Amino acid sequence: MNRKNLIAGNWKMNKTASEAVDLVKEISSMVGGQSTVQVCVCPPFTSLAKVSELVEQNEIMLGAQNMSEKSAGAFTGEISAEMLRDLYVSFVILGHSERRQLFGESNSTINAKVLTAVNNNLKPIYCIGETLEEREQGRILEIVGSQVREGLDSFPIRSVEHLVIAYEPVWAIGTGKTATNEMAQEVHSEIRNILVELFGQTPASSIRILYGGSMKPENAAGLLAQPDVDGGLIGGASLTSRSFCGIVKSALELS
Ligand code: PGA
Repeated sequence: MNRKNLIAGNWKMNKTASEAVDLVKEISSMVGGQSTVQVCVCPPFTSLAKVSELVEQNEIMLGAQNMSEKSAGAFTGEISAEMLRDLYVSFVILGHSERRQLFGESNSTINAKVLTAVNNNLKPIYCIGETLEEREQGRILEIVGSQVREGLDSFPIRSVEHLVIAYEPVWAIGTGKTATNEMAQEVHSEIRNILVELFGQTPASSIRILYGGSMKPENAAGLLAQPDVDGGLIGGASLTSRSFCGIVKSALELS
């Protein structure tokens, strides 16, 4: 199965709306206008409206960093799927380890968000990954396995091609420590085995599994060359056009 690489920038709580516009303009002049590798930026909510005016005209796609599982109503501070769709948002990051660890999101809350996203034509980028302690205890598959099974409970099989998984070992996020190419491939292929169990061989082989955790231009080519690594979810290195586009170029060279 030929899966198109997806390079997604998770800007986290960085950039004002005008800074976001500048960065997206730089990114689109460097790697827009091609459709071999899918490129997506996920700025904070406050920048989505301005950035959506830019991405409408080119190949860069827009993603959000979170979303409510509720559709509307008295949920102060929350953002709905419909609001995101209205701004031409295509992807939504769900279950990022910072949401899990700092904001108490559980597999079941995230599952509700994943289902709401897909039922509203948003493509979830569902994040999973073990902590250092869990890795040292030899519990990677137990943790990642329950995140996949519980987070994707009742996921509609007809929408599987819109699902993206991001494997982000928590110990590699923002730390400069990257999983080796072999470590990433090993977990990615185990994740794909679980997806085969859940959805069957052909649907599972259409799901992109991104690697995230200190990916940068210097290590991207090795990670992206792994057979089950279908792109990257990039934090720190997505904040400048030079490093983000360096990763996109690595993906283009491999495609
Ligand atoms: P990082 O973050 O690239 O800065 O490690 C990745 C992420 O949190 O998605």
